[in-house]
Amino acid sequence: MLAWDTLAGQCAQCQNCPLAQTRTHVVFGDGRQDAQVLFVGEGPGEQEDLQGRPFVGAAGQLLDEMLALVGLHRTENFYIANVVKCRPPRNRDPQAGEMAACMGYLWQQMALLQPKVVVCLGRIAANQLIHDNYKITQEHGQWVERNGVFFTAIYHPAALLRDPSKKPDTFADLRAIRDKVRQVCTRTQLLSPFTPPAGS
Ligand code: URA
Repeated sequence: MLAWDTLAGQCAQCQNCPLAQTRTHVVFGDGRQDAQVLFVGEGPGEQEDLQGRPFVGAAGQLLDEMLALVGLHRTENFYIANVVKCRPPRNRDPQAGEMAACMGYLWQQMALLQPKVVVCLGRIAANQLIHDNYKITQEHGQWVERNGVFFTAIYHPAALLRDPSKKPDTFADLRAIRDKVRQVCTRTQLLSPFTPPAGS
C-alpha cells in the first residue's frame, strides 16, 4: 500500500484522463489522515481548482457550517475528498470514463484511512460508493453496512444552496450521522457546537 505522500504525489502528476489538460490544480483531499469519518463529493469546482483544496467555494462553506453544528471539523475529525480529483469544465458532471480513471485514488485513500463512516455528498458519489442508479431524494439518510463500514448519502451542499427547502432533511441526516459516529467511531472526538476548533 502506498503512503499518503506517495499517493498524493502520483495524483498530482496524473494524466489518466482528459481533465488533466484543463485543470489548474489536482484536488487530492483535505482533513485528517487519521480520521474515521470520510466525506466524498463529486469533483472540484472553480474555487477548488484554483486553490487545490476540496469544498472551499460557497457550497463548501455551507457544508463546513452545517457539519460544525454536529461537532465535525475537517481540521479535527474528518477527511474529505472527491470522486474525481480534477475540475470538469464548467462544473459539468464527471463522465463515466473520468470517474473510472480516477476512482483508484479514492480506493487507495480509503485503504489508508480505513474509515468507519463514509458520507457521500450527492448522487454522483453515492452512485460510485453505494449503488448504481442511486436516488438521492428517496435514499438519502439510509445506511448500508459493508464489512463493518457504514455508508450513507446526503444532499450535495450545492443542491441546498439552490433549494434551501431541502435543509431540514439534511439536518436530520446529519444528526443521524453524528449518532452513528458516536456509536462506531471509537477514536473520534466530536466537538461541541460551541467550541471552536483549535487555531480558529
Ligand atoms: N463540489 C464537489 O463535489 N466537490 C468539491 O470539492 C467542491 C464542490
